[in-house]
Amino acid sequence: MKDYLSVNDINSLPNWIDDAKKIKQNPLMDKALGANKTLGLFFFNNSLRTRLSTQKAAMNLGMNVMIMNFGNDGWALEFEDGTIMDKGKAEHVKEAAQVLSQYCDIIGIRAFALLKNKERDEEELILKSFKKYASAPIINLESSLSHPLQALADIITIAEQQQIKTPKIVLSWAPHPRALPHAVANSFVEMMHLYKANLLITHPPGYELDPRITKNTPIEYNQKQALEKADFVYVKNWSSYIDYGEVMNTDTNWMINLEKLGKAKFMHCLPVRRNVIVEDAVLDSSQSLVIEQANNRTCAAQLVLKYLLEAKAE
Ligand code: CP
Repeated sequence: MKDYLSVNDINSLPNWIDDAKKIKQNPLMDKALGANKTLGLFFFNNSLRTRLSTQKAAMNLGMNVMIMNFGNDGWALEFEDGTIMDKGKAEHVKEAAQVLSQYCDIIGIRAFALLKNKERDEEELILKSFKKYASAPIINLESSLSHPLQALADIITIAEQQQIKTPKIVLSWAPHPRALPHAVANSFVEMMHLYKANLLITHPPGYELDPRITKNTPIEYNQKQALEKADFVYVKNWSSYIDYGEVMNTDTNWMINLEKLGKAKFMHCLPVRRNVIVEDAVLDSSQSLVIEQANNRTCAAQLVLKYLLEAKAE
């Protein structure tokens, strides 16, 4: 594997899940692999879990870690080709990516969708520019379209928790006051396809995700019916994809509560707004897997770093 940009970079999901479980049992087993190697984590947006779990994963491998917030610390970067740079942006990604590749053996990039222009967001200009101009392998720390590290932690969590061969997994939209990107939901759906899961999506009409991602996944607009006999309920808000970036529905009836959850396990990538997305009683119950999902971010990131370090050493 040369980069980890999407879940499509996973060559064998069963092997990846097995290897992740081994890492989780013995996080320091590859302590020498990353000696004298440096991971650079570069953020254009905020983060708690992605930043710290990936840093911890790198430390478990003996790597050094450098972190920079381009929003606050770095020079404002230009990404367009051929621009006359006489306005606010001081540095072009062409130089920045090459310079960072001299300092770092692996580079992680977080750059969310802006949700103003679908075509622009779908170009994934920031992630793809680093991929184009950096010589170091690139890890996607959440881009406009995908969050593959989160999806990897999610599938590890499901694999650990599942008690039957083919559990019923429901991805449910939930209300949120702000417009949120589609990346987490996209990668979760893609990962469920890779896992050949029994997935059902529920959301209000108008919140259909990109059909190129959902493909033939069934959609049930009645949330109560969708949640019946579910084993895992993954809850996430996303803004409209059709009316791109719009918040069309804030119906609080879509919030998840214990009654709707039934006997299912509750999943969310975090951060989560209590009593907006999900009621306190769910998050505070033993049915909530959110803390374990966050825990599994470390072994997921460590697995990706391990594979990239091993590929570089070949
Ligand atoms: N789930 C997730 O990516 O969390 P952060 O935004 O805190 O990194």
